[in-house]
Amino acid sequence: MIFLMAVLAFCQSDAPTPVSECEKMCKQLKLTKKDVFYDLGCGDGRLVTLVAMRSGCRAVGIDYDAKKVELAKKTVKENGVGHLVRIYHADLLHVDFEKLTVTVFYLYLPRELIEKLTPKLLNCPGVTIVSYIHPLPLKHKKKVGDFFIYEIPKREK
Ligand SMILES: C[S@@+](CC[C@H](N)C(=O)[O-])C[C@H]1O[C@@H](n2cnc3c(N)ncnc32)[C@H](O)[C@@H]1O
Repeated sequence: MIFLMAVLAFCQSDAPTPVSECEKMCKQLKLTKKDVFYDLGCGDGRLVTLVAMRSGCRAVGIDYDAKKVELAKKTVKENGVGHLVRIYHADLLHVDFEKLTVTVFYLYLPRELIEKLTPKLLNCPGVTIVSYIHPLPLKHKKKVGDFFIYEIPKREK
């Protein structure tokens, strides 16, 4: 029984965002060609692919699972968005988010990892953060369906 529960928990934690939800998120964010969208833990790459196809924006996927990275690269290539999407193999815990050019961070990650990443994401002024299912330990700007949306204030000049 415990084994079955562990298997179920693993499968759930690894599940992609359903395509219908990705579509909702694209509409809600009103992404344009000027955006740079990062999927933190990009899995099979369907989200970054869809975002690039729908909005024409640049998108970047990062995942620490080598097999998923290969799959994501294949998804991107097969859908002809290689000129807009980049996929990187890295552990999010070691990414220097402050150095990135980014307008939107997307997360569908376990709660514990979200909590570890939140202080780093807070150092990215002007960025929108969208977290699917699990909220960040912050006050969200709005909640649309299962998406929690946060705006990190721009720095005063
Ligand atoms: C629930 S899936 C979400 C996939 C995709 N973002 C989506 O919404 O369809 C979570 C993904 O995060 C990746 N992941 C988990 N912890 C990670 C870490 N520390 N660094 C990089 N990727 C991680 C997993 O390999 C998995 O592909």
